[in-house]
Amino acid sequence: MRPGAMWSLGDYAAAGDRWAEASRRLAREQAAPGLAVLDLACGPGPLAIEAARAGAAVTALDAAPALLDLGRRRAGAAAVAVEWVEADMTAVPREDASFDLVASAFGCMFAPEPEAMAAELVRLCRKGGRIAVLAWTPASAFGAMGPLAARYLPRGGGASPVERWAEPERVREVFADLPVRPVFATRTVDVVWDGLDQAVDEITGRNPAWITIRSAVEPTGRWPELESDLRGLFAARGRSENGRFVLTVEYLETLAQRP
Ligand SMILES: C[S@@+](CC[C@H](N)C(=O)[O-])C[C@H]1O[C@@H](n2cnc3c(N)ncnc32)[C@H](O)[C@@H]1O
Repeated sequence: MRPGAMWSLGDYAAAGDRWAEASRRLAREQAAPGLAVLDLACGPGPLAIEAARAGAAVTALDAAPALLDLGRRRAGAAAVAVEWVEADMTAVPREDASFDLVASAFGCMFAPEPEAMAAELVRLCRKGGRIAVLAWTPASAFGAMGPLAARYLPRGGGASPVERWAEPERVREVFADLPVRPVFATRTVDVVWDGLDQAVDEITGRNPAWITIRSAVEPTGRWPELESDLRGLFAARGRSENGRFVLTVEYLETLAQRP
């Protein structure tokens, strides 16, 4: 299935809004008035909208039209201007060096060829500009979900590009042939649901990646086992707080300045 069709399944925003603070924080820290910012694989645009609020000139790109439409409505409600572009993030229809900040929150990590994706990030970035990428660490509950699902997928899911963006050593490899030297910070975001049941139901029922996993695993008869393992993963990593279920999820922030 093409990425735009896959990510239009379910309701990504229902789940993704719960960790959108990580994207907004990146925008608050990196965007500034007058900067040209690209939010690559923007989804419903939390990074893009926050960067526009900070006064940046923002372009937001994604392959999923439904998510772009939602982003457009949200930007309208927030009274900020964002240019929304439907395109593939691996071949962005913009000139070289178009942006001061090329950012991707939990997005470019899905590109099937990480080195080619990194080259595209560098191509789009102006000299002196910055690249910023967020990805869940393997130690985090969200980072552990992919390997967990792979154990149940009929063909094992293959090597995942996501992990290449999740640890400093591996990200350095991705940028090895490019004229940038990334620096790293490990950060966390608290993801809050009404309870553990809601967390599992929402991730498996509304998150497009898990809807796709579920439809591949259900025919094998092992979906209940996978769902139970996911519940166990969340239960082990999460906590109850004021009657709500909270997962503190770790992610790697990669920043690279283009010389
Ligand atoms: C986990 S979501 C992250 C969305 C957003 N950055 C956020 O923080 O909420 C991944 C996004 O990557 C987009 N995506 C995946 N593959 C893509 C591709 N090849 N081209 C453009 N967008 C893509 C999906 O449509 C989806 O919006």
